[in-house]
Amino acid sequence: MRKSRVHRMVLATCLGSLLLVIFYFQSGPSPVAEDGILGSSWFSKTGRSPLQMLYDSNQLQHSPLHLAHQKRRELLNQVCDRYTRKRRLLSPEDLRHLVVDDEHGLLYCYVPKVACTNWKRVMMVLTGGGKYRDPLDIPAHEAHVPANLKTLADYSPAEINRRLRAYLKFLFVREPFERLVSAYRNKFTRSYNTAFHRRYGTKIIQRHRKHPSPEALARGDDVRFEEFLYYLIDPHTRKEEPFNEHWERAHSLCHPCLVHYDVVGKYETLEEDAAYVLSLVGADQAGIHFPTSSKITHTTGSEAAHFFEGISPFYQRRLFNLYKMDYLLFNYSIPSYLRLR
Ligand SMILES: *[C@@H]1O[C@H](CO)[C@@H](O)[C@H](O)[C@H]1NC(C)=O
Repeated sequence: MRKSRVHRMVLATCLGSLLLVIFYFQSGPSPVAEDGILGSSWFSKTGRSPLQMLYDSNQLQHSPLHLAHQKRRELLNQVCDRYTRKRRLLSPEDLRHLVVDDEHGLLYCYVPKVACTNWKRVMMVLTGGGKYRDPLDIPAHEAHVPANLKTLADYSPAEINRRLRAYLKFLFVREPFERLVSAYRNKFTRSYNTAFHRRYGTKIIQRHRKHPSPEALARGDDVRFEEFLYYLIDPHTRKEEPFNEHWERAHSLCHPCLVHYDVVGKYETLEEDAAYVLSLVGADQAGIHFPTSSKITHTTGSEAAHFFEGISPFYQRRLFNLYKMDYLLFNYSIPSYLRLR
């Protein structure tokens, strides 16, 4: 925000050469935190950063959870090696979704519709210097105010490099079509989301409904699921502008083949995986816990199946191809309700 245009340009040109270095350094399993990056906060009772906790801690090595996360990382790397032919370089724009916690040495890539409000709340508690105690004290809208959290894109290339090397990097993912249905329901079937209706709904109806009524065209508030899918599949859509983050593929938001994530958390095992991350940070000992959701309104597999019932195999396949990398990278199996052949 404060950054001038000139600064951005310098950043962009510097990044080209500097980020090459990142990949080299990141390949080592136990990078050492550099002096002066991590704040001296309560986690350091153990004297170890979360990254060191993950890779150097003896007591962890044989825990089933730890091994499961190791397997997820390995699979992610294998899929990256197999499917990404030429690795391009990161640009600052790629790092907009990585939230920075300099106190504890954490980088969290947020994916909307995957408990990201609660994770942002937790990041605000962790970076708040004691301002907040309980994540749920923070109103949801506060968690989404950009100024409340720093992202990696706010830093200089050298600072980015250091953080990518020394911090624990994690993201949370979710079954791609459950996430997609959740985004559709939240943004297009709730009457209060007028901003989405105007911004996207009107466009979707104009392009993908045969004989729209003037009211529907003006309001954009009754987009059908299949119309939403036509919009996603239409090549024109992404040529025009990037997908909105609520339906953009997780790999396009977090770049897991360029940023080497240490922990891949899953929505399906949210409580367990969130506790795992917070234990590496030492936050659990400081009494900071991931909020357990009180209202269970999330989309499940059978609900997603219901939404896909009326979609022809032709469109099911095209949509699956669009989200395929998220399925492969994060080890989700092809939903049994799809008719892909
Ligand atoms: C991938 O998922 C299957 C179940 O769907 C599981 O058995 C397997 O262990 C997972 N692999 C990794 C690397 O997590």
